Amino acid sequence: MTLRLFVPRDAGAIACGADEVAAALKVAAIARGLDVEIIRNGSRGLYWLEPLVEVATPIGRLGYGPATPEDADSLIAAITGSGEHPLAVGRPEDLPFLKRQTRLTFARHGLVDPRSLDDYRAHGGLKGLEKAIAIGPVATVDEVFKSGLRGRGGAGFPTGIKWKTVAEAKGAQKYIVCNADEGDSGTFADRMVMEGDPFCLIEGMAIAGLATGATKGYVYIRSEYPHAIAAMNIAIEKARRGGLLGTSLLGSAYAYDMEVRVGAGAYVCGEETSLLQSLEGKRGTVRAKPPLPAHKGLFGQPTVINNVLSLATAPIILAEGADAYRDYGMGRSRGTMPIQLAGNLNYGGLFETAFGITLGELVDDIGGGCFTGRPVKAVQVGGPLGAYFPRTLFDTPFDYESFAAKDGLIGHGGIVVFDDSVDMRRQAQFAMEFCAIESCGKCTPCRIGATRGAETIGKIIAGRDVTRNIAIVEDLCQTMKFGSLCALGGFTPYPVLSAIRHFPEDFHRASFREAAE
Ligand SMILES: Cc1cc2nc3c(=O)[nH]c(=O)nc-3n(C[C@H](O)[C@H](O)[C@H](O)COP(=O)(O)O)c2cc1C
Ligand code: SF4
Repeated sequence: MTLRLFVPRDAGAIACGADEVAAALKVAAIARGLDVEIIRNGSRGLYWLEPLVEVATPIGRLGYGPATPEDADSLIAAITGSGEHPLAVGRPEDLPFLKRQTRLTFARHGLVDPRSLDDYRAHGGLKGLEKAIAIGPVATVDEVFKSGLRGRGGAGFPTGIKWKTVAEAKGAQKYIVCNADEGDSGTFADRMVMEGDPFCLIEGMAIAGLATGATKGYVYIRSEYPHAIAAMNIAIEKARRGGLLGTSLLGSAYAYDMEVRVGAGAYVCGEETSLLQSLEGKRGTVRAKPPLPAHKGLFGQPTVINNVLSLATAPIILAEGADAYRDYGMGRSRGTMPIQLAGNLNYGGLFETAFGITLGELVDDIGGGCFTGRPVKAVQVGGPLGAYFPRTLFDTPFDYESFAAKDGLIGHGGIVVFDDSVDMRRQAQFAMEFCAIESCGKCTPCRIGATRGAETIGKIIAGRDVTRNIAIVEDLCQTMKFGSLCALGGFTPYPVLSAIRHFPEDFHRASFREAAE
């Protein structure tokens, strides 16, 4: 009997030594005369256990982690013997971190072989596209609209409305562009989809193409994601050969094909108009809107631009029906969100759950508090443009409106945790510095404002004229918020102002020095 082992090919697992572990397991198995198959699956998203080795057994898969190459021999002995081993974690599904999740977008994650279209189909893949083909473009758009799905890239715009606009726009060639630039700090869900379940993204893009009349698509991936680029290229080629892409989608009358495009890795190239400029071979600078990309996007043609997660959620919405998806969530935030827990946490990873869970549950309960053992002081939600939340706001439910009501944003669902050793003045200065470095330079509030902001916070840190300089920073933030052309300059005030508002003791530490002088 063949011994079936699973070792993730996910970049996070590889960074922890998954390739070496896979190689060592093979040597150890062969040395014992075993017939072994090692499947390089996606990560389950329990990153503190990576590399997580799994073995197929009659009672399901059993996990062992975090494994090192030195563990290979004892692991093979345990797997083929009693199963007992210090690294044994039992069935991954039974671990609270996975058990408490509602995995819809990530339903197949870690289960399938990302390089096998047959395996994808065997795990329920392609049902969404089959449904879209059966019901046609108008009903497909309607289904996505009814699901309540909102763009997972940050802005939370209803995906169904975006698709309807492109479907109704006139153009010789329409495009589907997948935004896989994923530059937010603490985010990795897009990368996980591309590396762990790439056919799901391809299926989602094909559904979007069918729904809108777009026959061509691009996945724009940053160059820092070599494993995702490779995974997508391999999957696209297999999808073409398997009839999931091409002139006849799954044998139907609909055509759609797509390619990978690699971006050089500028944060602003994640902004949709800047991304289009970059895709067209130009420098990544922001375009003024209107016209909207839905009317005049790539090469001046009607274009859907969606985040990886938005597109990868379309298949399950079509397969299970809009109502099944919108049953999850709260208020206007329907369905589930793949939340990414990162920073100073005991249990960092991918946690997909219905909107509505509180920030405190995510950080304390699921994330297990700080890895350093110190108290949690601040949590930045939504990437580098997201606000810092103090413990007093931990009862905030994770949904678009609740976060906006607290002057925050959920963005792409990244949560970065800091312990009490963090100096919030430096975090505020970092936000301005980040904006200054990443600014495309097109508008003055961002190009000049961010540099002046970083300098002024530097004066606060040095204890110079603190009260007056805080007032200057606050005033500058108003100018950036309301005068910037895009959200890079427009949202940088969120981390800066939240740091000033929620952590005044850090800022006035300098004031005390000023008073003493
Ligand atoms: C500075 C900046 C960076 C952005 N980076 C990303 C990104 O990496 N990925 C992404 O999907 N959206 C990003 N966005 C949002 C996109 O402009 C756009 O709203 C999104 O791709 C639309 O897809 P969605 O409706 O599926 O969210 C960024 C926006 C700004 C202003
Ligand atoms: S806000 Fe910054 S990144 Fe956005 S258009 Fe203006 S200069 Fe460019």
